[in-house]
Amino acid sequence: MNHRTQVGIVGAGPAGLMLSHLLHLAGIESVVLEARSRRYVEERVRAGLLEQGTVNLLKETGVGERLTRLGLTHHGLELRFGGRGHRIDLSGLTGGSTVTIYAQHEVVKDLIAARLGAGGQIVFEADDVSVHDFDGPTPKIRYRKDGDASELSCDFIAGCDGFHGVCRPAIPSGVLTMYDRIYPFAWLGILAEARPSSDELIYAYHERGFALHSMRSPTITRLYLQCAPDENLGQWPDERIWDELELRLAADKGWKLNRGAVIQKGITEMRSFVVEPMQTGTLFLAGDAAHIVPPTGAKGLNLAIADVRVLARALTDYYRSSNRELLTKYSGICLRRVWKVQRFSWWMTSMLHRFTGENAFDQRRQLAELDYVTTSRAAAQTLAENYVGLPIE
Ligand code: FAD
Ligand code: DHB
Repeated sequence: MNHRTQVGIVGAGPAGLMLSHLLHLAGIESVVLEARSRRYVEERVRAGLLEQGTVNLLKETGVGERLTRLGLTHHGLELRFGGRGHRIDLSGLTGGSTVTIYAQHEVVKDLIAARLGAGGQIVFEADDVSVHDFDGPTPKIRYRKDGDASELSCDFIAGCDGFHGVCRPAIPSGVLTMYDRIYPFAWLGILAEARPSSDELIYAYHERGFALHSMRSPTITRLYLQCAPDENLGQWPDERIWDELELRLAADKGWKLNRGAVIQKGITEMRSFVVEPMQTGTLFLAGDAAHIVPPTGAKGLNLAIADVRVLARALTDYYRSSNRELLTKYSGICLRRVWKVQRFSWWMTSMLHRFTGENAFDQRRQLAELDYVTTSRAAAQTLAENYVGLPIE
């Protein structure tokens, strides 16, 4: 089957779905091709913290009903070290901004429902997706659905297919420059049927390694532990995970970690990665296809949404007035913000994790940094304004 659309989108993650939604609101047609099933993408457990700008966008574009009902608004967070908690007043330091806990797969569900409800096309379980002719004005996406070959012709391709997708590797060598850093640790994450042990998130620095207390609802806790990059989950029975979390999150004044049934477990690798530029010809990369941040600070999903906001605006300008200026500036506009968010995620990661080979000097320096951030208004404000989300140019 051969078919045509204006923008062909590879990947039904937050970036691809939000782009398709924004384009639809601007009267621009798109088709989304996704390798996995609808059920798989709607249940994939990943991020959970939305910046103020992401929340505003979801609400302003009509996909915020469940978010408004079920999202948990947070006005502050806790940095815990030396057995003591220190609150960062996010709202007070940013003129009223907040962050919201709402799982990524719920955002994905809401966007899929909105697209399908508006007659949008999402092809799930599209096999062997490949992108062609993006050095010219009629790029094509080939794929198989139920064994049958199809070709989608379009004006532009949006590569929203994540870090392991096909769009970035399809770009000829020599066009892209890659910048990356791999960290000598990973996160072991669990979802548990346990009441959160605190109303706010807790980022804990401990000599045994980093730990994070987060949540998904008033009855579900999300917790993470720094672990080895090649950690074997089989060696982490639930009891061991809880015991380790208890040690690293320990605080005086009788704070207690609520335990419960572990309903999901996984390891998240940690890397920083950016490609420049994020576009070539009529192919535009967005979200994890173009950059990865380590999860400390919860920026990956929010950065993906910020990219497609810029891309949707650029495509809207082009279709309304044949103006290509924003399209040509897409990469430059996104990368300025991407690098600031990379810096923040690297900084949070460096401040809170134990590194192999570090010595007592490094630990003292980390503690001094934490002490500074929790006692200087200027330093706390820097953390807060990055955490709630930098403005989009
Ligand atoms: P993705 O969500 O990766 O979406 C890409 C989509 O493209 C996927 O649906 C994929 O199936 C599809 N796809 C891939 N290849 C093809 C192909 N060849 N053809 C068609 N479709 C294809 N961020 C945080 O902020 N906090 C966290 O705690 C956190 N935890 C994470 C845990 C894991 C295991 C991972 C992988 C990421 C995590 N992230 C986290 C990062 C965050 O989830 C991502 O930044 C976010 O998903 C980026 O959205 P995206 O739409 O760019 O990419
Ligand atoms: C979550 C993940 C993060 O990486 C983070 O910094 C905060 C919260 C979460 O999954 O809830």
